[in-house]
Amino acid sequence: KKTLQQKAEHILDSNFKTEGEFTIPCENLYPFQWFWDSGLIAIGFAHYDMQKAEKEIKTLLKAQWSNGFIPHIIFHTETDSYFPGANFHRSDLHPESNPKYKSTGMTQPPVTGFVLKEIYRISEDKGATLKFIESQIDKVYDNHRYFYENRDPQNEGLVYIYHNWESGTDNSPIWDDIWKTMNPPEYDFERRDTTHVDPEERPSKREYDHYLHIIEIAKANNYNDEKIAELSPFLVQDPLFNAMLIKSNESLIELYKLIGGHENKIKQLKKWQQKSITSFNDKLFDEELGAYVHYDLRNERALKHLSSSSFAPLFANIPDTEKAETMVKVMMEKFGNENQYLCASFDPTSERFNPKKYWRGPVWVNLNWMLYNGLKQYGFNDIAERVKTDTITIIENNGFYEYFDSRKEMHKDNKAGYGGNNFSWTAALLIDLLN
Ligand code: DGY
Repeated sequence: KKTLQQKAEHILDSNFKTEGEFTIPCENLYPFQWFWDSGLIAIGFAHYDMQKAEKEIKTLLKAQWSNGFIPHIIFHTETDSYFPGANFHRSDLHPESNPKYKSTGMTQPPVTGFVLKEIYRISEDKGATLKFIESQIDKVYDNHRYFYENRDPQNEGLVYIYHNWESGTDNSPIWDDIWKTMNPPEYDFERRDTTHVDPEERPSKREYDHYLHIIEIAKANNYNDEKIAELSPFLVQDPLFNAMLIKSNESLIELYKLIGGHENKIKQLKKWQQKSITSFNDKLFDEELGAYVHYDLRNERALKHLSSSSFAPLFANIPDTEKAETMVKVMMEKFGNENQYLCASFDPTSERFNPKKYWRGPVWVNLNWMLYNGLKQYGFNDIAERVKTDTITIIENNGFYEYFDSRKEMHKDNKAGYGGNNFSWTAALLIDLLN
């Protein structure tokens, strides 16, 4: 009988596509390379197949644009089992897009910096791994420069996302507040995701109209960042996205120091870092809710909702100990009572909570992995252990799903796994948690 670790390795190896040297998130539903999936997948490979970990990152960074931008999906193959595909996105409209790869014209949380650091931590041949990192790290630095120079119109040290798909938390109830400010046309299109997965577990048709409409606006402006900042109805400073950037800044500084030299880059990274952390605490911490929230730049207002993204800044060492204590108390009160697995992706006490529907409530392994590491960094060891045990238990009982019901009562017949099955980052991060 296979151990959990062997099962996880088998999933990763099956999802690795040798012809393109990248890993799909899962069969059918997501048949290409996704930015943040790819980074987190590399952490799993690093534990047992360093070559694949390196290939994953190399392939991702090969698709980088000349302005430093990294797309959220790279369409290595042609298939019509996914919508919207390359022909809808038309990222070639941007003058600096990469002519060698079809991709989207939007990005995803910038995990690559801290992923390189994780790979180094895991590596048993640090010399060889550092050489690999040295060959790739400037591309990641260029990606951060892209963000600070093009995604921060008020020069605050906080970068915006212009699409919910950039957040990674695609259909979070937080975005409902933005959809209320829009009234897009009803587009005529054929969804493919709902042929692979129960529509109850996926976003609605009307939500997709909004998603497509924002892309149409970006396309009409050739994906020009300044125009997008001026015109996109969706323009948000997201605590998860910015925490990933800050965590990655910290890792790049440490890695450049290990490599030696690179004084100017280290200096620039520290400058970005200091400004980002200060603004993050000043602008995104909500005293009333006791955690971080999203800020809607288009309509100049805080979006006052608790989600797992509210606690992700623990992973990037952003809150001071007092803030961290407040956050953990809130998390345990609202997300962590004994009827629930940690950590629901959205506030279980909210009427918008839906424990089956994608990012509107289910537990996600990538956020749990960040939370586990964040809690440990601050010394909340017991709660960290609970996050880890909950994560392993739900995978063991249900399988390697994309997301899971957060209500314990729903786990009685082991059918509480939703979305895609044999999901790569669930497998990759489980391997990291087990080792
Ligand atoms: C999807 O198709 O739902 C993806 O998550 C978009 O990134």
